[in-house]
Amino acid sequence: MTNWIPLGDASEISPGNRKSYTIRGTEIAVFHVADNEQPGEFYAIHDSCPHQGASLVDGDGCGTEVTCPLHDWTFDVATGACHDFPEFPLTRYEVKLEDGVLLLDASTIEEEEIPVNPFLVRYGAMGWVDHFEADEDATYAHRERVILKTSRGEEVGEILAAAGVQETSVSSAGTILREFTPADQETLARQEDVRARVFQDCQTLIQERGMPTEIIDCEQLFDQQTVVLYYLGSRMPALEILAQELNANYAWRIVFHPVDEAPAASGCSSGGCGCG
Ligand code: FES
Repeated sequence: MTNWIPLGDASEISPGNRKSYTIRGTEIAVFHVADNEQPGEFYAIHDSCPHQGASLVDGDGCGTEVTCPLHDWTFDVATGACHDFPEFPLTRYEVKLEDGVLLLDASTIEEEEIPVNPFLVRYGAMGWVDHFEADEDATYAHRERVILKTSRGEEVGEILAAAGVQETSVSSAGTILREFTPADQETLARQEDVRARVFQDCQTLIQERGMPTEIIDCEQLFDQQTVVLYYLGSRMPALEILAQELNANYAWRIVFHPVDEAPAASGCSSGGCGCG
């Protein structure tokens, strides 16, 4: 069932321009796509790049195309299609005009969820810091290790602090599953061989191929399903080919991740290179 809500006078967005709105805590960008400054069509999208959440309202582009200002993924705001990675389309919303007023169908926009019992946690070989929610009555001490569920899988984290009341409006990067145990430490120790082997094999292949890529670290996630190789250098097709070859040779999923990027906003753990 549709739920049309007014955004304002359509004339607030001149032909060729765009404007952002916040609806129930969700950022929405409305694009007015037009030729020759004549009134054209309005398109609304969730203003959060599916890669790492950058705002698209300031992205370059013409017609219905917009390019993310952060890592240059391009999208069609009319269809939501992502040209670079079709598996990561934009979320679109229906809009219409009534008596000069722009209306948006908000039926699919849910109220922003407030994380339950959030903690600030450091995780990943790059030491990212994010909020994670825990069971309502769970308590964790400063620097206590925990097992997390993130968009990449299960991994180990370190508690930095309980989030204060003023921070409860932040979004959660995942959940804290449980405390870290001595048995988990043994699992981690067994993973060291895998980590070292993949790191060495990958470095050798990169040198043999003369690729301008430097692998600077490697980690196997705690769930033992994914091995992440952190690299310096640009995303290039040769890296994608290498990832496919490594994936064919190993029992684990191999992913390349640029060192200067945080984990994907949701679901994409490829680090934007399309690998893995
Ligand atoms: S955040 Fe948009 S392409 Fe990376």
